[in-house]
Amino acid sequence: MNILGIETSCDETSAAIIKDGLLLSNVVYSQKIHVKYGGVVPEYASREHEKNLLNTITEALKIAKIDLNNLDAIAVTYGPGLLGSLLVGLNMAKGISIGLNIPFIGINHMEGHLFANLIGKNKLKHPYICLLVSGGHTQIWNVNDTDYKLISDSIDDAAGEAFDKGAKILGLKYPGGPEIEKLACDGNPEKYKFPRPNVKNCKYSFSFSGLKTSLLYKSKDMSSKEINDSMADLCASYQEAIIDTLIIKLDLVICEQKIYNISIAGGVAANNRFRFKTNLLVNKYPDLIVTFPEVKLCTDNAAMIAAAGYHKILDKQASDYDLKADPNLSLDHNRF
Ligand code: KG4
Ligand code: ZN
Repeated sequence: MNILGIETSCDETSAAIIKDGLLLSNVVYSQKIHVKYGGVVPEYASREHEKNLLNTITEALKIAKIDLNNLDAIAVTYGPGLLGSLLVGLNMAKGISIGLNIPFIGINHMEGHLFANLIGKNKLKHPYICLLVSGGHTQIWNVNDTDYKLISDSIDDAAGEAFDKGAKILGLKYPGGPEIEKLACDGNPEKYKFPRPNVKNCKYSFSFSGLKTSLLYKSKDMSSKEINDSMADLCASYQEAIIDTLIIKLDLVICEQKIYNISIAGGVAANNRFRFKTNLLVNKYPDLIVTFPEVKLCTDNAAMIAAAGYHKILDKQASDYDLKADPNLSLDHNRF
């Protein structure tokens, strides 16, 4: 069975082909136009998707050596994300589906991130805890078969957003995560003291806006030269505070829920320091099994959407043509 996956929820235009569960191609076009604005400009994002989606699909089919007429189904992100961007992908999927008379299925982008951990790997044991860390979300889920229960969320910024906003404060490029990670490699993570925030009365919840503000205040106390001279230490210390905050909460959830199968997903999961420090939890919980997606499948891509679609189509699920893009779609409405 040949599935075409389409992902256009934010600033990545992506198409992928999965054949009988095996990933054959995954083309990701990262829109460059947003770099000069230091963040994603929604109107430009949808225009870029419109310009590039067809070529991206053609390229994915070519790499997979699959003819358009040999597709069996299409999986497409229909939320959460930017409305205009979602509409481009969803309408393209509907159009191809009608043209070829094959089913299409709408996929929740966040559920797609969870499926990135199933590509080329054994099935995860259920129930498992998923820490979903992206540019828009920082959540901990309890996943049991078809059931998604939200254990923890951020009350303000997401972890990826903390990287992006921190990078902007330091005059670095968007997206900030990879920039901060690169510079942090040569820095001392203990040089500057940044908080590991807790949320009053919500022991599992995340909060990152205070951390970003403390970087802002720190940077205001320094001249441009001092910032540039201390860039590696600032990045390393700030990155460490974000990562420690994630791990402190994950540790608490594991300790209290006593679930030792852990899946990490989302763009921030690409961070090597985060991967290293999360794996250290195994020293505390010997039964712990931590699964990360391949680095290139952590950030937004269509392979994860095709993988989710493959499982749903096998389960005889499909969407109707009246499916609407939903910018605020949540995972707990989802049933797999
Ligand atoms: O999952 P994703 O591609 O898009 C969303 O669904 O939001 O995540 C993007 C986020 C951005 O905030 C980006 O800065 C962050 O993931 N990110 C990283 C790294 N690569 C991407 N954060 C830290 N370290 C990285 N290596
Ligand atoms: Zn994402």
